Amino acid sequence: MAVDLLLGLQWGDEGKGKIVDVLTRNYDIIARFQGGPNAGHTLEFDGIKHVLHTIPSGIFHENAINIVGNGVVIDPVIFKKEIDNLDKFNIDIPSRMFISRKAHLILPTHRLLDAASEAAKGKAKIGSTLKGIGPTYMDKTGRNGIRVGDLELDDWKEKYRALADKHEAMIRFYDVDIQYNLKELEVEFFAAIETLKSLKFIDSEEYLQQALKSEKTILAEGAQGSLLDIDFGTYPYVTSSNTTAAGACTGLGVAPGKIGEVLGIFKAYTTRVGSGPFPTELFDEVGETMGRVGNEFGATTGRKRRCGWLDLVALRYAVQVNGVTQLMMMKADVLSGFESLKVCTAYNYRGETIEHLPFNIEEQNISPIYTEMKGWDKDLTNITSESDFPEELTAYIDFIEKELEVPVKIVSVGPDRKQTIMR
Ligand code: IMP
Repeated sequence: MAVDLLLGLQWGDEGKGKIVDVLTRNYDIIARFQGGPNAGHTLEFDGIKHVLHTIPSGIFHENAINIVGNGVVIDPVIFKKEIDNLDKFNIDIPSRMFISRKAHLILPTHRLLDAASEAAKGKAKIGSTLKGIGPTYMDKTGRNGIRVGDLELDDWKEKYRALADKHEAMIRFYDVDIQYNLKELEVEFFAAIETLKSLKFIDSEEYLQQALKSEKTILAEGAQGSLLDIDFGTYPYVTSSNTTAAGACTGLGVAPGKIGEVLGIFKAYTTRVGSGPFPTELFDEVGETMGRVGNEFGATTGRKRRCGWLDLVALRYAVQVNGVTQLMMMKADVLSGFESLKVCTAYNYRGETIEHLPFNIEEQNISPIYTEMKGWDKDLTNITSESDFPEELTAYIDFIEKELEVPVKIVSVGPDRKQTIMR
């Protein structure tokens, strides 16, 4: 048995939540392996829209066990809110979701540090979601972090105090105007810790080994996207974890040889939220239309997403780094109504044509080289089978498959579970 991976191939927001939800029925276990509440996984079914930040997207399926892996960073306050939001759905969460003891905790002061760091950067800010992700991973690699398993030990509050005091000194060092009342934040934090402690803590790497031995099927759910990977993304405009396939090995304790299918999700166009390079970004009416029709606003921060044409150079890079074996194309319906569509197949990089993502992709160095294709008019949102695809959509998919050398197995034509065409 193997662990299948599901990853975003662009700058996040590809629609991973929906696909995990659609695929969950095929898996016994869904495991998140990195990131934290900077993610916003949107699921829509039975006329209700759900947004999950830390809870794995398999939570709505009765038979699935959900695991928050060691690579994830957990903000107990946000986690508690997510759990409370699920109250009305009568989900027995403690029996369906287990937490790795090795996952790190986001403290209130991590969030404050994130805000201070961004404010100090001024124009060069990353455009962080300000959920404390960067400072928490810094404490993890700096070997200062507090882990979920620490909550089972007697001295964790002393560790907490020492770290929070250090953070306050760091906030003062930034010398920016950050207003906060730590006492109030701590009341909320310690109450949320009690909710967290009501869940089962596990040694998730051991749990998954045993699950594999007993032939359970496992899907590892990524957050963000490959171009936000700390190593392979558009650094420094990235998140602080490995969002690519290798991150699933370190974020769950699964050996590389145990990875099975690698399912790569991408939108039929491209979006990005936050700062950083985006070669195919559109600043015109076409980009505006994509944003409006695609409802491109962040699920976590509500920020407007930047929109642009599909970038096959960046996508090819993501397919290679992750070893993608199957592709899933989301939001095909958003492209209906454009007379023609452009797809970037190469870059003009300082006067030279290149087909890979270079180290330095600042705007002044790069311009996209496009192949133009015919668009389609047909509304796709009611389509139930591939045979109803307009021929221009089929040509668009064929082109992508030829360029990336990986089959497109799912085409999504709307936010609902039902609007999913398997190929
Ligand atoms: P952070 O991870 O909150 O520090 O944000 C770093 C960068 O990653 C910013 O540009 C964010 O907008 C982006 N980012 C973080 N999480 C997500 C996500 O789930 N979807 C899309 N972008 C994200």
